[in-house]
Amino acid sequence: MSKSPSATGFRIDKRTKQIFFGILALYTVIAFHLSNCRYAKSFKSPKFTNVALPTTSHVENLNLRDYEVKDRHLKDLREQLAMAYPYEPEKSIPRRIWQTWKVKAESSAFPSSFRSYQKDWLEASSQGFDYMMVPDDDITAFLENLYGEVPLVLQAFKEMPKNILRADFLRYLLLFARGGIYSDMDTYPLKPLNQWPSIDHEKLKEFKETRKPVPYKGFKSGDVSVRDEREPGLVIGIEADADRPDWSDWYARRIQFCQWTIQAKPGHPVLRELILNITATTLDSVSSMKGNTADLIDKDHQSDYNVNYRDKRAKDTAYLHEEAKTEENIDGSDIMNWTGPGIFSDIVMEYMNNLIQKNNDVLLLNGNIYTPATVDPAEAAQEDVNQSTKKFYRKISESLLNNRQVPWEFFSLITEPITVDDVMILPITSFSPDVGQMGAKSTDDEMALVKHMFQGSWKGNAGHN
Ligand SMILES: *[C@@H]1O[C@H](CO)[C@@H](O)[C@H](O)[C@H]1NC(C)=O
Ligand SMILES: *[C@@H]1O[C@H](CO)[C@@H](O)[C@H](O)[C@H]1NC(C)=O
Ligand SMILES: *[C@@H]1O[C@H](CO)[C@@H](O)[C@H](O)[C@H]1NC(C)=O
Repeated sequence: MSKSPSATGFRIDKRTKQIFFGILALYTVIAFHLSNCRYAKSFKSPKFTNVALPTTSHVENLNLRDYEVKDRHLKDLREQLAMAYPYEPEKSIPRRIWQTWKVKAESSAFPSSFRSYQKDWLEASSQGFDYMMVPDDDITAFLENLYGEVPLVLQAFKEMPKNILRADFLRYLLLFARGGIYSDMDTYPLKPLNQWPSIDHEKLKEFKETRKPVPYKGFKSGDVSVRDEREPGLVIGIEADADRPDWSDWYARRIQFCQWTIQAKPGHPVLRELILNITATTLDSVSSMKGNTADLIDKDHQSDYNVNYRDKRAKDTAYLHEEAKTEENIDGSDIMNWTGPGIFSDIVMEYMNNLIQKNNDVLLLNGNIYTPATVDPAEAAQEDVNQSTKKFYRKISESLLNNRQVPWEFFSLITEPITVDDVMILPITSFSPDVGQMGAKSTDDEMALVKHMFQGSWKGNAGHN
């Protein structure tokens, strides 16, 4: 009996709750409907069709590092991307690993060697890292979730005529939105991830305190902001550094940065420019979109958009430049310049040059140009002592001091990390140990971080890599 008041109270509560939940459910249905309308509208509304696609080749008036969204109408894709994922350089690099493959790891079609590499990633990352594997089936939902506000990016991804292009694009999109380490499925780590020079704070501190800044024209060392505690925002490795006259028979760029392993903070401006370039190129190079982009592109620089006009083909008058790209007429060189290491390397270099041309406080740390490579006395007889970045010292200083240009020599023959502002460049040994050329050392070298098994060729037709 003594319980009855509370029982009554409970009954009332229950009825109130029912009414409350009824209203909530109704609201949810309405809100869902409204948000669907808004979503559907965002695809067709002026927001979509009137978003301009600026070229990344003409940025003389922009400071890419400090690019800020001023116009909330988000008139162009650069603004949309910067708004969707603003860069926050003071934050640390997310402790997260991304991998992608055609099928889920549980599938019988998942290669067993990958299963063991995957285990190594999990072990190397046991200290507070998340591990994410995105199989093909999940990509659409994933990207719609991350890039719903930037429909042109989704459109470009959808329109890409080859999976290899999508596989390249996907890694940039994941890192730009969420950050962390992306690494191809055919790689495995050689060290615990918290020992990487980018996130080992003891090494980072030592590096920043002991390397003296490399000057460039206009550099004011007094203006350099104190950023000792900050981790770099983008960490990349050298893929190719072929010091031979016929290098172009083998590689797309004299210094080529690799994109099978990349570490980044979300929103990094290099990734933003890369995504902008790839989206614009795709939408203007494939037939399904050609007519639709006429109003969006920069008419003064039309050839920037068409992958058929990149260099070699621009000079080939017989080439069918206006022909749209399809699965059949794409070759390795197109892939290189569209989504692969070619365009990746170009955008990194262009970003660095924009940095030092627009800012007087960019810290360039490169110990390699002051110290000759320490030659193992046992190898000294065979090894050319001049095989160090120091041999380019003059060319490097002239380029920086006269032209505010970071020359490719700045990255050649490096054996220890370099930083250009918050971009860290690791030597070839870091992501390509054991390749037995271009100065790469073995997997037991201090700088070796990731082993690449080259099991999927980038030239491969179907699927990833
Ligand atoms: C993309 O980048 C390449 C390499 O710098 C450049 O040639 C091209 O004009 C750029 N295109 C667009 C649309 O940004
Ligand atoms: C790709 O770009 C590079 C650098 O601009 C150029 O040397 C090469 O010829 C281009 N490839 C094609 C097929 O245009
Ligand atoms: C290194 O290069 C300099 C200048 O090119 C040359 O004088 C010197 O003999 C070279 N040293 C060796 C060991 O090759």
